[in-house]
Amino acid sequence: MTERQEIIKNQVNVEQFREDLLNWFTEEQRELPWRQDQDPYKVWVSEIMLQQTKVDTVIPYFNRFVSQFPTIEALSKAEEEKVLKAWEGLGYYSRARNLHAAVKEVHEKYGGKVPNTPKEIAGLKGVGPYTAGAILSIAYGVPEPAVDGNVMRVLSRILSIWEDIAKPKTRKTFEEAVRVLISHENPSYFNQALMELGALICTPTSPSCLLCPVREHCHAFDEGTVTELPVKTKSKKQKTVQLAAVVLTDENGRTLIHKRPNTGLLANLWEFPNMEIVQVLRSEKTQLEEKLLEDYQAKVEVGEMITRIEHVFSHLIWNINVYSGKLIDLKEEKEDLRRVNAEEIEPFPFPVSHQKMLKFLPEQVKKG
Ligand code: ADE
Repeated sequence: MTERQEIIKNQVNVEQFREDLLNWFTEEQRELPWRQDQDPYKVWVSEIMLQQTKVDTVIPYFNRFVSQFPTIEALSKAEEEKVLKAWEGLGYYSRARNLHAAVKEVHEKYGGKVPNTPKEIAGLKGVGPYTAGAILSIAYGVPEPAVDGNVMRVLSRILSIWEDIAKPKTRKTFEEAVRVLISHENPSYFNQALMELGALICTPTSPSCLLCPVREHCHAFDEGTVTELPVKTKSKKQKTVQLAAVVLTDENGRTLIHKRPNTGLLANLWEFPNMEIVQVLRSEKTQLEEKLLEDYQAKVEVGEMITRIEHVFSHLIWNINVYSGKLIDLKEEKEDLRRVNAEEIEPFPFPVSHQKMLKFLPEQVKKG
């Protein structure tokens, strides 16, 4: 036991805290689709989806995803494009690509059974300490911490921890705390109860302390510092990038789409032809025409600007001026450059910003 852990033991009545928390969760937990059984695969999918994404947004995606890919085997055999299509709109697409790769590894290396040891599970692509702890505790009942931002918020208040939760190493402090507090009888409920408390009661800006089942254990409530915790320094402001994109149509009502490279932002998703506008020396129209000729051997005539789209990523803002245009001649289609009509475009996964351009396809394209 570390010095910090000794302090925590003296700070809270651990037994009573567990009991109060677990009783509350047993009574008050939300019915969520991933709580219907303890299938490790489904727990895994849900925990990946729930990173950076709210429960309400995740529910329909989760339901569709597990009906389309009900098992490790089904997902391991799926084409990546289908997986990305099922993820379309959820964002942070590397989560989907990593999950797919890791599920293939589980299929091949572990006979389709999600491993149940911290070492093996943390070795899987995209499975960090939080996800490993969540799967181990929820699916296998292993008493491992699962500390995300919500759990840090809850415990920073209960234990009056003033470390900056924006710093990566702070998570370890909270993991140590969870190791002291966690119920060994029911690690699954214990971790889920902390998450649930963070979602329903111990919310970021106006927590419902009067309804809190563990208020009597809460040092921040006692000290009147609930709204000052957690300490979280501001992340850097996003950089804004100016882009121009073009929705082209050829004489047969087909449009031109491009597959993004297999690394980096929005890897392997499809998009309408576009470019970053760095300096406005020539018009955006001219720059687009030149780029399409050079990069894709496509002769095009760019027309009017039809809309502007802003898309905010965690670290970046895209400001896209969208043009319509005519595709006059295309030398050849390639793996990553396709000419498609409205029907054919359906299976291609697009980022949200480019999905918004689909509605600017002329009617004849939409009908195919
Ligand atoms: N957030 C992260 N994991 C969760 C879970 N299993 N249930 C509800 N919210 C969550």
